[in-house]
Amino acid sequence: MPGQSPDMESYRVARTRAMAHIGASDAKGPMPNLKINNIEIAVEPGTLLLDACARAGFDIPHYCSHPALSPVATCRMCMVEIKGQPKLATSCTTMAMDGQEVLTHSPAAVDARAGVMEFLLMNHPLDCPICDQAGECLLQDYSYKYGSGDSRMVEPKRRYRYEDLGAKIVIDKNRCIHCTRCIRFTQEVSGTFELTVANRGAELEVTTYAGRTMDDNPLAGNVVDLCPVGALTSRDFRFNKRVWYLKPVPTISRHSAMANPIWADVDQNRVWRFRPRPLEGRTATCFMFDHERYRYHRYDLDPTTRPARSLLRGAEASGEQVAEALREAGPAAVVAQGTFGCDAVQRLAGLAAAPDLCFGSGECLYPIRFPALQPSADGIFNRRGLAERGYRFGALEELLERVRSGEVRAVVMLHDAEFSSEGETRILRDILEAARFSLVLEPIPGAFSEMATARLPVATYLEETDFIVTHEGELRCYKKALDPPKGVKPIVEWARDLQKASRTSPV
Ligand code: SF4
Ligand code: FES
Repeated sequence: MPGQSPDMESYRVARTRAMAHIGASDAKGPMPNLKINNIEIAVEPGTLLLDACARAGFDIPHYCSHPALSPVATCRMCMVEIKGQPKLATSCTTMAMDGQEVLTHSPAAVDARAGVMEFLLMNHPLDCPICDQAGECLLQDYSYKYGSGDSRMVEPKRRYRYEDLGAKIVIDKNRCIHCTRCIRFTQEVSGTFELTVANRGAELEVTTYAGRTMDDNPLAGNVVDLCPVGALTSRDFRFNKRVWYLKPVPTISRHSAMANPIWADVDQNRVWRFRPRPLEGRTATCFMFDHERYRYHRYDLDPTTRPARSLLRGAEASGEQVAEALREAGPAAVVAQGTFGCDAVQRLAGLAAAPDLCFGSGECLYPIRFPALQPSADGIFNRRGLAERGYRFGALEELLERVRSGEVRAVVMLHDAEFSSEGETRILRDILEAARFSLVLEPIPGAFSEMATARLPVATYLEETDFIVTHEGELRCYKKALDPPKGVKPIVEWARDLQKASRTSPV
């Protein structure tokens, strides 16, 4: 919609309105006590029955409901029986009330679900063997669990050709179950309003307004995660991998200001995709920007061409030789970017000649378009973690002076070109040029590795386990997802080796 501010405001307004409509937003008072399948439970006022049932240990199947989107009750899959009420109720829009007796698996509820499944499968193609969603498809899972196993459909199924919604998203309308999650996302979260429902009845279809694409939507990839079936697929991941081969490893998004929790889906020592890893009660973690999502390609390094040798003055050298050259050069300062893990950087700090010779760097700013998704303007997400470990940010000019004056002779730099601004890159280059000895550790080697006196092949963040502290003071861990090639080591190991070698070297 022209003029619409693409931020979370529209989402908040829509969700507040929807929750108010069902009376859940301003619910106050004592905690309602209710019985779910004869289990007594007390929940917060305003809790939806769907959530209350989950808390009591009963998973209710659902398609259209999503914690970050307004409730609409379109799929009718989440119906439960409430004793004393003549009709079944949709648990995604019914509040838990005091004294309620809820039956999630009564014959009426089971029958209703089987009926819904039969309707949903009426036009759904049996193309699971070639569908990207197979293995994580709610329609597949629920039809096994709740379907009747029969179909009374004798008419030919509705057929559409798949369509590109731009370069990132492909839609296969045959598979769509009209849950409208994707449409609500573009209305309530991205505010870009490309998707809509066209036509009625059997002709109902999800499409874009006037042939628009989703290319201008910086959050477009999220509609693929939201789609409970394989109707919306990612051009990037489509037909690349069967999901049951993938092992999800908990990590963080290094390309968001908040280092949001994500899954790195791994197989054969390669990452095949990044996905959000939602934290309970934190709806902003349900989504990620496309610029983060597709950034896994950056870490897909070819082991045959990746530098895996330590170099000292252009010649291959051992870690001990590099450590000795560093020790001989004289007082050393350590510069580390605030996008590296706390453990790695803290160990590297042990190489600094004095505690005040630890400097933080990184000036990458991400434009804020969705405040609730990205509350910090500072793209250097571990700035706080490093500052707490004694690293001083904003003092690179001071270091340059101290290097030029000869007070600091050697510089150890942990760097990733992606997170330095042009101005900062210039100062860092001046520091490297002025230093008598420079040792650069770049997971993805760049110009600084070329100009340094020595360089070590270091692992990327996906190849190590570490943690960061966000701007809000929240600790986030990430696990090793990939094995580095032979010769390439995590920063922690290099720091330990260098310190050990300098302690044992003859003075
Ligand atoms: S495309 Fe997927 S998310 Fe969108 S309405 Fe259809 S099933 Fe739901
Ligand atoms: S989840 Fe309740 S009606 Fe769809």
